[in-house]
Order: sequence, then C-alpha cells, then structure tokens
Amino acid sequence: MRKINFSPGPSALPETVLKRLQEGVFDYNGAGVGIFELGHRTKLFMGLVDETKDRLLKLIGASSSKYEVLFLTGGATQMFSVVPLNINTKVEKSAGYLVSGHWAKVALAEAQKFREVVAISSSESNGFKTLPEQNLDYSKYSYVHITSNNTIFGTQIKDTPKTADVPLVCDASSDILSREVKVDEFGMIYAGAQKNLGTAGVTIVIIRRDLIDANLSGLSTSLNLETYAKSNSLHNTPPVSAIVSVHEMLKWIEEEGGVSAIEERNTKKANLLYDSIDSSSAFSGYAEKEARSKMNITFKAQTEELEQNFIKFCESKNIIGLAGHRSVGGLRASLYNAITLEDVSTLVNHIKEFDAKNS
Ligand SMILES: Cc1ncc(COP(=O)(O)O)c(C=O)c1O
Repeated sequence: MRKINFSPGPSALPETVLKRLQEGVFDYNGAGVGIFELGHRTKLFMGLVDETKDRLLKLIGASSSKYEVLFLTGGATQMFSVVPLNINTKVEKSAGYLVSGHWAKVALAEAQKFREVVAISSSESNGFKTLPEQNLDYSKYSYVHITSNNTIFGTQIKDTPKTADVPLVCDASSDILSREVKVDEFGMIYAGAQKNLGTAGVTIVIIRRDLIDANLSGLSTSLNLETYAKSNSLHNTPPVSAIVSVHEMLKWIEEEGGVSAIEERNTKKANLLYDSIDSSSAFSGYAEKEARSKMNITFKAQTEELEQNFIKFCESKNIIGLAGHRSVGGLRASLYNAITLEDVSTLVNHIKEFDAKNS
C-alpha cells in the first residue's frame, strides 16, 4: 500500500507519472531498452532532451531565443559555486544575496569563496519566520541572488524583487513550476528536480542566453555553464533517468492544465492546511502569516512530546514525512505539485482528530 508522503524532497510523484516510469523501466517508448539502460547519445534520448527543454520553456513562459535550458548534476548545492563562478564575473561590483533561510546562507557562504559578495538583507534575527527587506536599491550589485521558497522555515517570496538591469538569480529548488512567474524578471532560475519536477540527480537551469559567458578562462570545464550550453547538456553522461522523469512530470503538468491550474490547486491545498492549523488548539504555524509558503507548511505543537505523538499517530494512518527539519524542529508538511487536495484533506482530518483528543 502506498503512503501519503509529505516529505521535503525527494518527495512524492503523481501516480500517473510513476506508472509511466514503471513501464519505461522495462521498455521505454518501444525502444526495446528501459530508462536505466538508455544511451545518452541515442537519437531517442537526444530528441527527449530537446523535447524536455521545449516543454519546460513553454510551461514557464520563456522564449527559447532568450533563454537556454541546461541539465546539470551536483544539485542546487553545486549551483552555489557555479553561479558566482559564471555570472557577470567581469563586472567589478559585489554580488548581492538576500538571506532568507538556511539555503540562502549556504549559497552566500559558498559564493564568498570565489568573489566579493554581500548580504543585502537578512531575516535571520527573526528566526527566518519573516522575509528579508526586498524594497531596495539593487543597482550596486553584479547580480542579485534570492531563494524563492525557504524549504526549512516555510516562507516564500511572493513578489519578485525588481532588480532592473541587474541579473536576478533564483534558487527555486522548492517551488519551481508550482506557480506562475514572470520569467523576464529573472536572469537565471535553478532547481534540483527532486521536489516539484521529478527524481533526484538532475539540476535544472533556465538561463538568459546573454549571461552564458563564452570567455571564461581558468574555470573547470565541468563548472562552466557554456560547456553545457554548447553540448546541449551532453558534455558527459547526463542523469538520463532523472531527465526522463522530468520529461514525464512536465507532460503531466501540461495534462493537468498547465502551471496556472497547478498554482490554483497548490493555493487551495495550502489554505486548507493553514486554516486547520490556525483553527486548532494543539498546533500553531511557525512562519509569520505574510511570509507563509504554499509549498512547505511549517508548524508546531505545544510540546515536543505532542509533536512526536502526532508524527506517530499519522504514521499509524499511513502518512509520512511530517518531521520538521532538524535545525528548526516542529512539524512540516511539504505540499509539492504531486500532493493532491485529497491528500491534504486526509491530513486535515487527522489534525482535527488529534486536536480533539489532545486539547
Ligand atoms: C531551497 C533549497 N536550495 C538548495 C537545496 C539543496 O539542494 P540539493 O540537495 O539539490 O543540492 C535545497 C534542498 O532541500 C533547498 O530546499
């Protein structure tokens, strides 16, 4: 029996996608070989890379003349180095980082190893329950880096900072394609696929073509974004099966009605859960209301013991993945694209039942 999986990532995939992948493991699209056996230089896979790029650009609303899609490995974590090593390196200004949570802090610390970097603003003194100040002058930076959704603290940037001509680089690991964005506001968006868009192993990069520097000297070939742009992400063996999973997820998002329909559902899911937390006696939300994420709902019970009891109670009902990150504690339900409204209703019913027994 499958469980309802609210894990923060790798996380649940839609049943339709899982079934298609399951079939593909044995024989992918009649090729006579399965997903794990597919050669990366076969016509089938190379065509699939092109199709996946097209689907992604269409879904996110970007033009292929302006933006390139790259498939990398190394996760968002490797991007914390790749970004400062590649973006506007010849502009003699500091790179600016909005520090909105754990991953933003890690991104900043990593970038500082390679160039002049400053924290533009931070919400750390509020325990990252709020978002950092965003209404700022960004003109003094070579690029600006944000984390659109803070997976651990459960906050999410609602309005993209307006950085005018300064490229905005966004770690969208935990909310890519969960809501509509104006792509033109971004120089680059990157994300590990394993939360909203597929399985672990592939990092998705959407980058404005003019930010790919063809004249970077002294940089490792495999950390240079131009390497992947030139080779259509086939510089070396890419994570073939993970890219196939992304392709299947994109197809599924199209079938569900595209990103606007997904966003509508994600909003309903998050509202339903926040309402039940807010109206309970045993639980309270972690993040400040205005900063709340629709992806990672962080909450607490009155005591740690109660939280552990709730996790066990849910496990007995086949619901998993509700423990908060070890640095924050408490509880967290991750409502990525594959989680259904029905899954959230089930959780809400258990919150009500637990609340009635424990308050
Ligand atoms: C917002 C954000 N950035 C970066 C990371 C690190 O991603 P990866 O494990 O793909 O390197 C995570 C992981 O959860 C994340 O949530």
